[in-house]
Amino acid sequence: MSVHESSKVRKVTTHVLHKMKFHGKKISMLTAYDYSLARIIDSTGIDVVLVGDSASNVMAGNESTLPITLDQMIYHASSVVKGINRAMVIVDMPFGTYQGNSMEALSSAVRIMKETGAQAIKIEGGAEIIESVERILSAGIPVMGHLGLTPQSIHKFGTYVVRATEEDEANKLLKDAHLLEEAGCFAIVLEKVPAKLAARVTQALKIPIIGIGAGADVDGQVLVLHDMLGITQNFSPRFLRRYHNLYEEIRGAVQAYVDDVKKLDFPNEREQY
Ligand code: KIV
Repeated sequence: MSVHESSKVRKVTTHVLHKMKFHGKKISMLTAYDYSLARIIDSTGIDVVLVGDSASNVMAGNESTLPITLDQMIYHASSVVKGINRAMVIVDMPFGTYQGNSMEALSSAVRIMKETGAQAIKIEGGAEIIESVERILSAGIPVMGHLGLTPQSIHKFGTYVVRATEEDEANKLLKDAHLLEEAGCFAIVLEKVPAKLAARVTQALKIPIIGIGAGADVDGQVLVLHDMLGITQNFSPRFLRRYHNLYEEIRGAVQAYVDDVKKLDFPNEREQY
């Protein structure tokens, strides 16, 4: 697509997402971490691309999302933005860049916006990080919340099981969702919570609720790209639908290449100068 043609594409914005909720149109969201895959998924008409800190797991091979740094997130996000024409790009604030104090949170968010060209940031937590959320919003940076299973708190939870099954935690989650909406967040991700609770939050709030393992009665869905494509292995939560088995496809192609090189079949006469 030429630059001229691409300028005609109507970008997805926070305003578009609000209208989608209002009109009952579901929002599609996937993660991406690099230019090439971002370009492919944007061409499908996906609404939102999240540069998730799950890059720590699927790109860097870490066991949790905690080790990824702000510089690494900025590297991934600026690569993704170059591949995107239409989708809204949101970038995760990595662990340790917003919990300390709200000034630090603001300067991390400003770096993300300045150095990547993304349209918004995502941040995990409710009441405990509300000051940071407000300060970032006051600089005109759109903020997406993230409640339920918040992977940056995995050592506090001690397990990746479904969250907010007990009344106390469910009430806190509902309260946090209202708090984030009142602060001015444009949307919230709800991860791994009972479908009934997610439906309640979705009905109670005017801003879009995007679910991952939160059932069908939310305003949109998000999955980790490498999980839904079947690149990752040994990760099969109930909510994950695998649309492909790319692990085997890639393995098969690479095996064929290795075999061809070994048996002198590659390159052939037409593949040389
Ligand atoms: O980092 C990530 O990929 C996420 C999604 C699971 C929502 O936060």
